[in-house]
Amino acid sequence: MSTILVTGGAGYIGSHTVLELLNAGHRVVVVDNLDNSSAESLRRVEALTGKTVEFHLLDLLDRGGLDLIFKRHRIDAVIHFAGLKAVGESTQQPLRYYHNNITGTLHLLEAMKAAGCKTLVFSSSATVYGDPERVPLTEGCALRTTNPYGATKLWIEGICRDLAKAESGWHILLLRYFNPVGAHESGRIGEDPQGIPNNLMPFIMQVAVGKREFLNIWGNDWATPDGTGVRDYIHVVDLAKGHLAALAKAPELPGATAINLGTGNGISVLDMWRAASAAVGRELPYRFAPRRPGDIAACYADASLAKNLLGWSAHYNVAQMCTDHWRWQQANPNGYSG
Ligand code: NAD
Ligand code: WQD
Repeated sequence: MSTILVTGGAGYIGSHTVLELLNAGHRVVVVDNLDNSSAESLRRVEALTGKTVEFHLLDLLDRGGLDLIFKRHRIDAVIHFAGLKAVGESTQQPLRYYHNNITGTLHLLEAMKAAGCKTLVFSSSATVYGDPERVPLTEGCALRTTNPYGATKLWIEGICRDLAKAESGWHILLLRYFNPVGAHESGRIGEDPQGIPNNLMPFIMQVAVGKREFLNIWGNDWATPDGTGVRDYIHVVDLAKGHLAALAKAPELPGATAINLGTGNGISVLDMWRAASAAVGRELPYRFAPRRPGDIAACYADASLAKNLLGWSAHYNVAQMCTDHWRWQQANPNGYSG
């Protein structure tokens, strides 16, 4: 049994990963400032697993507070989810994004180094590929970002690579997630976006639950099979399990290694709308609207490195992603605050 520190563990992907860690027998310490989440997610994780989470309300910008966490617990490895993630907001508040995501990560790395804990799994993103040079995307594809949020991911990847080059003993896995959707099958934990969702799946589900009138499909003139944007949607439980696989293999992977976590399947907006309509049991209203600024035609993973290095691949299909997301949305129309 290991003790894992999970930063941002109250959030969407974090809470699902904490659940899997507890079920696998790990001890879990969470730090989160609850900037974009609720501690209710962790209470529900505890109820689902029958195990306890050691929760600390802490901002990663509080460097001294982080040191205390490492003094209080013998942490074997860290999974680092904490960060701000809204692309549009990052273009309006770049300093906030750079400070929170990059300074927060520097503090974490410093605290880990001081404590002699050198195993890290970091939440990177397919956003580091920008407008992809080709699909499916392999980890060797060109890295380029088009917004401050993406730039923070790229910088953090670089910082981790430099650190692992400069000092021996680090095992850092930079997991590049594609498009996480879905929820735990219990319907008790899931994604709880604040305000109007930017992402496709939460928006469709808010249409389904009657909070939004119709889905705007941003463009039907993309160079894709049906003209709508293509992405690699991955069930959040598959993603969570990818983190456990990464932790298990980290000892064999010295340095800093970037790995895509996707399914390898390109799914269009219309495909997703059809699957969501089937899960909900009626045709959800939509209309075509002009392309969204900054969007790209297609982005999906070559998922073979994760299979080869971690022995992990995704299992859930789009129908299951929609069914599980719908179960969560239907039972919690107002997220955790309801
Ligand atoms: P989320 O917002 O639900 O979770 C992030 C958590 O970090 C929140 O609970 C938030 O309160 C916390 N946090 C933010 N800044 C903090 C700070 N300074 N100190 C302490 N806690 C802080 O987001 P998520 O969807 O679960 O994403 C988790 C990670 O995965 C993020 O780093 C995100 O950038 C990355 N990611 C997400 C997606 C996606 O589409 N959801 C895709 C690729 C990568
Ligand atoms: C998916 C597709 C839209 C909403 C973003 C971030 C990325 C990553 C994941 C963190 C696109 C279309 C969407 C809507 C629509 N996050 N769409 N109507 O753009 O792939 O990625 O989230 O790292 O960094 O950029 O995801 O869910 O916003 O969009 O037609 O109301 O759905 O145009 O084709 P995206 P998304």
